[in-house]
Amino acid sequence: MSRLFDVRPNPHPKSEAERAAILADPGFGLHFSDHMAVAIWNPEEGWHDRQVRPYGPFQLDPAAAVLHYAQEIFEGLKAYRHANDSIWLFRPDKNADRFTKSAERLALPVLPHEDFLASIETLVVTDQAWVPGGGESNLYIRPFMFASETFLGVRPAKTVTYACIAGPAGAYFSHGVQPVDIWVSSQYVRAAPGGTGAAKTGGNYASSLIAQQEAYDKGCDQVLFLDGAEKRWVEELGGMNIYLVTSDGELITPSLEGTILEGVTRDSVLTLASEHGLQPVERRISIDELLDGIRSGKITEMFACGTAAVINPVGSLVTEQGRVVVNDGASGRYTDELRRALLDVQYGRVEDTHGWMHKVC
Ligand code: COI
Repeated sequence: MSRLFDVRPNPHPKSEAERAAILADPGFGLHFSDHMAVAIWNPEEGWHDRQVRPYGPFQLDPAAAVLHYAQEIFEGLKAYRHANDSIWLFRPDKNADRFTKSAERLALPVLPHEDFLASIETLVVTDQAWVPGGGESNLYIRPFMFASETFLGVRPAKTVTYACIAGPAGAYFSHGVQPVDIWVSSQYVRAAPGGTGAAKTGGNYASSLIAQQEAYDKGCDQVLFLDGAEKRWVEELGGMNIYLVTSDGELITPSLEGTILEGVTRDSVLTLASEHGLQPVERRISIDELLDGIRSGKITEMFACGTAAVINPVGSLVTEQGRVVVNDGASGRYTDELRRALLDVQYGRVEDTHGWMHKVC
């Protein structure tokens, strides 16, 4: 394991009893481990001050550029504890690649892959007691980078902070792994050609929130966005990619088109498809084809996927015209199979034939 990050141990870590209570029921995104990784960039020194230090607030000037112009990117990946207590990451190289692409799109400095991985590995080793064991909980890891320069002019920042935090996580949806209802937004879009849709940047999520709130108001769990140019082509959910299974054995996901986030789980499912007798297909799919396909039975299953959500069945789509129920509102055979196959690799219950797992300790 590389050690580019100096460790400054937290003198006041949570007690074993506090940690055990959190690990017993972690929820998602609510609790964080005792340390965080941080590094600073400026044009003169490049990346420097690499540390794993006690988890705690940043001191940020009110004029810090990120607070005004949202020059920010992030990633999401997980550490899994295997039965023999070893700890593993799932395809961290894919997250490193995407972090680089997001940085380039947001005019942020590129963090070398070596630093990205070292920050995560050092944090996970330092806080290994926070990686849950048993069940399907894990340590959710959130690397991010933001414009920390104190400056209100609109230009790429000359002081940038990279950080990585982590916290134990259970199911993403508070109701566990149940079919979710999806609101199809006809008013709002999340991305346009030439925009930032393919980057993992906070602004994409900020602009999705009004539609996400609309989804909650309609009794749904998530929002589905259509393309920005024609409002015709299915793109992705507020924080997940989507997949459809057809009666003739195709597993279809919308092609990326530069406006859709290139999900690591999305990519892994494309690889797993043929091992489950499905033909993987990336292509444009219109909202009419989707709704008609569900109504006619041509589309037999639909699921959402992402690092946080893993694979989660979709129970229905809700539009201004009404509700269309998928597979009688139940999870489908392939959805369950693919979810199980992915989790089995991640938790080390089957051989990692694709070389996806990366051992940390
Ligand atoms: C992830 O799946 O890791 C994400 O970043 C999406 C977010 C909705 C939690």
